[in-house]
Amino acid sequence: MTKTIVVAACKGGSGKTTLCAALAAHASSTGQRVNIVDADPQQSLGLWYERRGWPENPRCYSAADEHDLRGAITKACAGADWVVVDLPGSLMRTDIAIRHADLILIPVRASMLDLEAVNPICEVADEAGVPRVFVVNAADKDWKLLGSAMDALAELGTVLPETIRYHEGHPAAMAIGQTAAELKSPSSRIARAEITALWAAVSKRVTRKARV
Ligand SMILES: Nc1ncnc2c1ncn2[C@@H]1O[C@H](COP(=O)(O)OP(=O)(O)O)[C@@H](O)[C@H]1O
Ligand SMILES: [Mg+2]
Repeated sequence: MTKTIVVAACKGGSGKTTLCAALAAHASSTGQRVNIVDADPQQSLGLWYERRGWPENPRCYSAADEHDLRGAITKACAGADWVVVDLPGSLMRTDIAIRHADLILIPVRASMLDLEAVNPICEVADEAGVPRVFVVNAADKDWKLLGSAMDALAELGTVLPETIRYHEGHPAAMAIGQTAAELKSPSSRIARAEITALWAAVSKRVTRKARV
């Protein structure tokens, strides 16, 4: 049965597209059949997929409008172990995507401006009865802000301990249709370990909560 992860946050720049690509590429490298859906009119994930060379796995379905999004999700679910949906940095199209969601992954940066923006997506997820988890993205382990951000998020829901560090490999890799974990540079080792750990944590939760 296909399991669907929707990556959402009412904030541009939190890392939704980067984490979608990274998680999908990692999961496909482990032998899983993965489809990704680009539900953002900016089409950043679709453009990354073009730069990647239109591979079969993970394969990307881009949705130009809401009608397309329903069709894209339906097509993406056919024959896939996993579908990962990338939403825009607002509630636009969220209602359509979360109807199919088994889990909502909410990337958040460790800053007040980002923390202040998480409530709307939490409310929509809770109204729909879809489990949601936060992942802190682009923060260094020694940031004082990291601890307080994780504490503040913990008041609002589950925060995965698998934080993703700030690493220039993420933007560098996205520019060439890859992910930081796939780069050959020595520093990509950390990104690889982090994304592997994040996928393990996220996929375990979806399996537990999967609908029948
Ligand atoms: N962990 C990270 N380390 C460094 N840069 C990151 C990280 N995650 C995302 N970025 C960069 O931050 C910017 C916004 O990320 P993006 O994935 O486009 O966010 P969103 O899809 O939520 O708008 C991009 O330039 C991306 O390369
Ligand atoms: Mg994006």
